[in-house]
Amino acid sequence: MVSVGVVGASGYVGGEILRLLLQHGGVDVTLATSRTMKGEYVFKAHPNLKGFTELKFTDDDPVTAASKVDLLFLSVPHGSSVKVTPEIVEMGTRLIDMTGDFRLKDPSLYPIWYGFEHPAPDLLPRFVYGLPETHREEIRNARFVANPGCIASSTIYSLLPFARSGMINDVTVVDAKTGSSASGNAANRASVYSERYNSIRPYRAAGHRHTAEIEQELSQHAGRKVKVALSAHAVNMVRGIQTTSSVFTDREVAEVDVWKIMRQTYRGEPFVRFIRDRDGVYRLPDPKITVGSNFVDIGFEIDRHTGRVVVISTIDNLIKGAAGNSVHSMNLMLGFPETQGLSTIPLHPA
Ligand SMILES: NC(=O)c1ccc[n+]([C@@H]2O[C@H](COP(=O)([O-])OP(=O)(O)OC[C@H]3O[C@@H](n4cnc5c(N)ncnc54)[C@H](OP(=O)(O)O)[C@@H]3O)[C@@H](O)[C@H]2O)c1
Repeated sequence: MVSVGVVGASGYVGGEILRLLLQHGGVDVTLATSRTMKGEYVFKAHPNLKGFTELKFTDDDPVTAASKVDLLFLSVPHGSSVKVTPEIVEMGTRLIDMTGDFRLKDPSLYPIWYGFEHPAPDLLPRFVYGLPETHREEIRNARFVANPGCIASSTIYSLLPFARSGMINDVTVVDAKTGSSASGNAANRASVYSERYNSIRPYRAAGHRHTAEIEQELSQHAGRKVKVALSAHAVNMVRGIQTTSSVFTDREVAEVDVWKIMRQTYRGEPFVRFIRDRDGVYRLPDPKITVGSNFVDIGFEIDRHTGRVVVISTIDNLIKGAAGNSVHSMNLMLGFPETQGLSTIPLHPA
């Protein structure tokens, strides 16, 4: 059986990768690292895993970890992956990097969006952007995958049909709402319950770093430079991302046109659902309805008054926005059925 390991396994994303891998059936989880919880059972950090594994955390550094497994998930903070990745690439171990360190193809964008000069620009082309619906064949043949950001994934899913069909305008306005787990489990002043609870905090009204990867991917599909004006808010949820995008179109667009490009883009995709109903509580996507699953839910409304299509997309940030997409990529890289380990039906009520 293929052996896999997770570095940064005490974090939220690392915990979700472990949960998905433990019920996958085709891989053996042989290693989970945490520098602060060495020697502890992984269920000390992730109590939901009690009874499913007796694995204990090690404090192997990422390079040593990579030497012990066939495929490694690197689930550490931005900026710490690039310090160790060159050695792992040299070693050749299959790697799925959850950070933003290898998502951008143009090294000149790193100082602008991430605040550092990229120390290994020659490695950027060796990483495939890990969105299975858009880079399926490249991921299948990849050894190194850069898993997308959570807000980026949700936005790309909703705008991809418009980029591909040429319906997208030069600038698209995107309003993102995100749950608290999106910023990881390290405590800080902003994450204190009394500050975070009941708040709608515009934590990045402009300049969100996911803008760069969204523009990179959409521009590729549009065949020209497209921009997104992204504003991100922290809202009162633990899990979930909702992106509401205003696509201003050059021509009048009918419902049937939007359905057509949505179906053309996502026909046969196992993890994309269209949500648009005439009545009921959940007429359009709500992140609550994706919790626990690898689905992205997409819906739309046409606003004839201003000539825009409002596209709403929702995901569970920890799954379709992180761990689930990475396991989907792992399935492609290792030749498993794409949905293996990812068929969980979302919770309701959540
Ligand atoms: N949360 C999300 O929804 C989400 C979505 C998409 C992508 N991501 C990305 O996924 C990565 C992990 O996110 P997260 O939310 O799981 O963060 P997290 O909860 O803060 O976990 C990060 C883990 O990395 C370990 N760590 C920290 N610094 C390290 C270092 N220098 N070397 C090795 N290990 C280190 C920490 O464990 P120890 O200190 O015990 O070693 C910690 O458990 C980040 O790059 C994040 O941006 C997160």
